[in-house]
Amino acid sequence: MKVIAYKDDIKKFKGESVAVFLFEEDTKPIGRLSKGLANRVRKVLEKENFKGKEGEVLKIPTVGLSVDFVYLVGLGKKEKVDEDTYRRASANLVKRLKRDKVKEVCIVIPKRGEVGYELSKAITEGVILGSYTFDKYKTKKEEEFEVEEVKIYNGDEKGIEIGRIFAEAQNYARNLANEPGNVINPITLAEEAKKLAEEFGLECRIYDEKQIQEMGMMALYSVGKGSATPPRFIHLIYKPQGEPKERIAIVGKGLTFDSGGLNIKPGDYMRNMKGDKSGACAVLGIMKAIAQLKPNVEVHGIIGAAENMPGGNAYRPDDVIRAKNGKYIEIDNTDAEGRVTLADALSYASELKPDKIIDLATLTGACMVALGEYTAGLFTNAPDFAQEIKKAAKRAGERVWELPMDDERLRKKIKSTIADVVNSGGRYGGAITAAMFLEEFVGEGIKWVHLDIAGPAFSKEEYGYYTKGGTGFGVRTCLEYLMQVGK
Ligand code: BES
Ligand code: MN
Ligand code: ZN
Repeated sequence: MKVIAYKDDIKKFKGESVAVFLFEEDTKPIGRLSKGLANRVRKVLEKENFKGKEGEVLKIPTVGLSVDFVYLVGLGKKEKVDEDTYRRASANLVKRLKRDKVKEVCIVIPKRGEVGYELSKAITEGVILGSYTFDKYKTKKEEEFEVEEVKIYNGDEKGIEIGRIFAEAQNYARNLANEPGNVINPITLAEEAKKLAEEFGLECRIYDEKQIQEMGMMALYSVGKGSATPPRFIHLIYKPQGEPKERIAIVGKGLTFDSGGLNIKPGDYMRNMKGDKSGACAVLGIMKAIAQLKPNVEVHGIIGAAENMPGGNAYRPDDVIRAKNGKYIEIDNTDAEGRVTLADALSYASELKPDKIIDLATLTGACMVALGEYTAGLFTNAPDFAQEIKKAAKRAGERVWELPMDDERLRKKIKSTIADVVNSGGRYGGAITAAMFLEEFVGEGIKWVHLDIAGPAFSKEEYGYYTKGGTGFGVRTCLEYLMQVGK
């Protein structure tokens, strides 16, 4: 899909379709179209029940005018509209164009004058995210049709360029997350990372199961032991030309499938556990975009990839395992495997002595119980850093909500009688005790934010710019943040 700025007079625009974005109960912007088109639209509106509510899209065919169709796209109440409203409206529009088999559109927003960097970026992200489908395994494609060209009236070229990189990175993460466990396993995920690094000029280090053990990453190794496919450790590096402003590690949970292991999940709960690598997929998406955006910040993408299976060599409840930072973990439940793999990934990341670490993990069902499926849990040891991440998430339109880490009584639940920590703190406050477990593996003095993306990483429904399946949640929040730091 091509997205470009249209800078000529909109009244003279000729093409297949134009789309006018409208606030609720405000049809004035229709007057920006040519007289003929505006009259036609007003006439239709007398009879149509279009209010301009979010989600509404009205298609108006014309005859003998400069465009074949005018689309009216609702933004909802003006006071409530933010960047993400434009992103969602653009996605709604493009989904509709696809259904209508309309291949060209010029978008006109209510604001007069230049559209500006932020909104041009949001609209571009919306149309690219909204046109996403994952149908490579359908031999008969439902919809071969693609929208070919989107013009943004008075759009900002830089905003469009950056929006494209952000959205394509997110779609890349979605593609990977949607691949099933028989296609993406720890070995093929590492191969994908290597391919990405070669294509985009990133440094790449892959460690196999032997090296993982030699490096003392017995936690990651143990989680992967029950699978016929051994674990891999992935480290991608982006270094800017000059002296970086900061060095930041992004760590992703990379369970290519989570059966629960010996504490096996019931069938219903096992469905979609191919999505348990979503954090890792986000990390790869982020690295792909960063290699193109080239901000002045050093970025390390780190993934411990494993498959949690109940094979004959599987790790067990009661096992005690030494992690890379020397701490011993007692296993209470083999289904609390993500934190065990992250113990080593965070230890490894900490040894790089970065200024900051962000981890993205589909870590706990408890986080979904607390916040619902659309919001990620945010946990931190550094309030100022968390504040910046919250701001970045806001810009990205990704919902995050902070949960507390200062409940010292709750912290006792991950105390083990025979080791340093136990990998499950029970049902209540499960998202928090999981985060407290992770904190044990973050090095002294490193600012850290943990995003529990169990809810928003994988969608059971179609909404906004998401379809069913992988959402690529977290990619744009991290990119917003990294671009801010490396400005
Ligand atoms: N990958 C799951 C968490 C999850 C659940 C992600 C649902 C997405 C949707 C994680 O490994 C897990 O199984 N967590 C357990 C922890 C428990 C055993 C302490 C959970 O949340 O039930
Ligand atoms: Mn699990
Ligand atoms: Zn898991």
